[in-house]
Amino acid sequence: MTGARDAAVAAFFDRCAIRGLMAEFVPNDEKRLARLLALWRILPGQRVLEPGCGSGRLTERLARIVKPPGAVIAFDLSTEMLLRASRRVLPAPAAALMRASVTSIPVADAGIDRVICFNAFPHFENAGAAIEEIRRVLRPGGCLWIAHLESREIVNQRHIDAADEIGGHLLPPSRSLADLLKRHDFKILLCEESSSYCVGGLRR
Ligand SMILES: C[S@@+](CC[C@H](N)C(=O)[O-])C[C@H]1O[C@@H](n2cnc3c(N)ncnc32)[C@H](O)[C@@H]1O
Repeated sequence: MTGARDAAVAAFFDRCAIRGLMAEFVPNDEKRLARLLALWRILPGQRVLEPGCGSGRLTERLARIVKPPGAVIAFDLSTEMLLRASRRVLPAPAAALMRASVTSIPVADAGIDRVICFNAFPHFENAGAAIEEIRRVLRPGGCLWIAHLESREIVNQRHIDAADEIGGHLLPPSRSLADLLKRHDFKILLCEESSSYCVGGLRR
């Protein structure tokens, strides 16, 4: 499944999980998170894919919205993150977890309504390959959302300061990311960055 770079990224996030990082939202996140959830228009019954789900703090909320027969299919490279996610979300009947990389998603073509890359996109080694694979699993009319609760500057500085493994994992300007989505035949729904960051595209 993974090359040397993915293995190094997984090991880095294993250590983050063991240290309890990104385990919970803090009260200050809630207003911006509620706004993003409204923008993403996630509805009961939808099939939502969440690459880079980490410890499942968002997965849990998405699963509560979609409810069976809807489903959230969440995946990550890090086994330690997935261990924590499984404790948290597997009691929810609408959630499924897998170990996988975004460049090889074990999901059939054109069956997903929403893909939510939350705090995860800069870690994907090959952005173009990731978007193409996401496009494959989205149904026509389905949407990809790439979002962070913080500004691009804060996200990038955190990655630079964190460790060599993720020092080069930089979030591009939202306009550059929108251009990349357009080149993969997405219609841009939103392209914003200020105190948070969100780019959305509709799969034609
Ligand atoms: C900053 S964490 C965010 C986790 C979660 N979305 C959250 O906000 O709590 C990024 C996650 O992306 C995962 N990740 C990095 N590269 C990945 C890839 N190629 N495929 C799947 N997951 C990946 C990491 O293992 C990590 O758990």
